[in-house]
Amino acid sequence: MKKTPITIAATLVAATLVTACATGGSPSATNVEKLADSMVKSAFRTQGIATVDRAVAKRLEAANLKTVKWPSDGKFLGDWKAGEKLAQSGRGMTWTDKSTKTSDNGGNCYNCHQITKEEISFGTIGPSLYNYGKMRGVSDPNSAAAKPIVEYTWGKIWNAKAYNACSNMPRAGHAGILDEQQIKNIVALLLDPQSPVNK
Ligand code: HEC
Repeated sequence: MKKTPITIAATLVAATLVTACATGGSPSATNVEKLADSMVKSAFRTQGIATVDRAVAKRLEAANLKTVKWPSDGKFLGDWKAGEKLAQSGRGMTWTDKSTKTSDNGGNCYNCHQITKEEISFGTIGPSLYNYGKMRGVSDPNSAAAKPIVEYTWGKIWNAKAYNACSNMPRAGHAGILDEQQIKNIVALLLDPQSPVNK
């Protein structure tokens, strides 16, 4: 392919996005914006180049979304009590503690998120998930109205990069950390109205 200023620019932005991701930035990371901005201002008179960073992120997210495996029986919610145990467990993710089976792994969610009010030991790298379902108006997770948020929650846990190209959150399903039943249990923890998350 002939390298036009536009393809060079796109390559540069893609490379910067990868660097931004690696150093913990977000798709709107200032590096990408600055680069796109300076390209617009200096070399290129092309319109719309400042949106290239977002376009690259969108493409990466779409590719990640395609990897999400949806529940084979169409049921998204399992048992929130089992989900709470998984969310607390760092099994298989910590130090030399390697588990041999996926079903022995924990989700490690509290390492980065507040989830229930009862568990007061949690990390804050990710947003608080307390009242996750309630705040999103989910009163019946099986209703048509709840479908988009139920699917988003599943997809986010399966492959966090499907919705945020630069996400720091482990891709629990995609990376084989958690299996389908475990993800169901964690989705229930976040969305079941009976779960302490939504009390
Ligand atoms: C290493 C830290 C880390 C771990 C471990 C982690 N997350 Fe996250 N999570 C994040 C960050 C950071 C965000 C916000 C940025 C993003 O969108 O990815 C996030 C976002 C989310 C969101 C989206 C919130 C919203 O309002 O849209 C959900 C849901 C979520 N995490 C659930 C979980 C669950 C469930 C687990 C355990 C299986 C988990 N996370 C483990 C860091 C983490």
